[in-house]
Amino acid sequence: MRKIILLPVIIAAIISSNLAFAKNPAKLFKQLTCVTCHGQQGRGMIRRRDRLHPKTGKLLYKKGDLKKGYEAYPKLAGQNVGYLIAQLQDILAGRRNNGKTSKMLKIKPLIDKLTTEDDLKAITSYLSKIK
Ligand code: HEC
Repeated sequence: MRKIILLPVIIAAIISSNLAFAKNPAKLFKQLTCVTCHGQQGRGMIRRRDRLHPKTGKLLYKKGDLKKGYEAYPKLAGQNVGYLIAQLQDILAGRRNNGKTSKMLKIKPLIDKLTTEDDLKAITSYLSKIK
């Protein structure tokens, strides 16, 4: 008898402990596909070997470089945490919309499904600490 009563208690304990511990922000950043637009650890999509054209000032692309247009995706690493969370919330709530924001909104269902407000704060805090 006792075992039958204990089982739901154990299951409930496992579920609640899972919710109580914040998910790893670095893992979430990958899992939520943020890396595909903001680069590894949010370091941005421009590679170190990218060069600006001496005359036009435009980016020069080399074979194997990222697709054109990706340089417009902002670098997040090392930015102020208050700024990052405010921008993230504005983007997700539709308050910020400058034309490219819609690209990021495509993953909103994923963000809604996998994260809480605290997870988003943990992600931005993680990003702001990257040097
Ligand atoms: C499909 C591409 C894409 C994905 C995936 C994506 N973003 Fe973005 N993100 C963008 C673009 C484009 C902008 C700039 C939008 C704008 O200018 O309004 C942006 C802007 C931001 C900003 C504001 C940066 C600034 O300097 O103002 C934050 C913070 C941010 N993203 C966080 C995230 C996080 C966290 C994730 C993962 C949960 C994520 N993004 C996933 C494309 C993406």
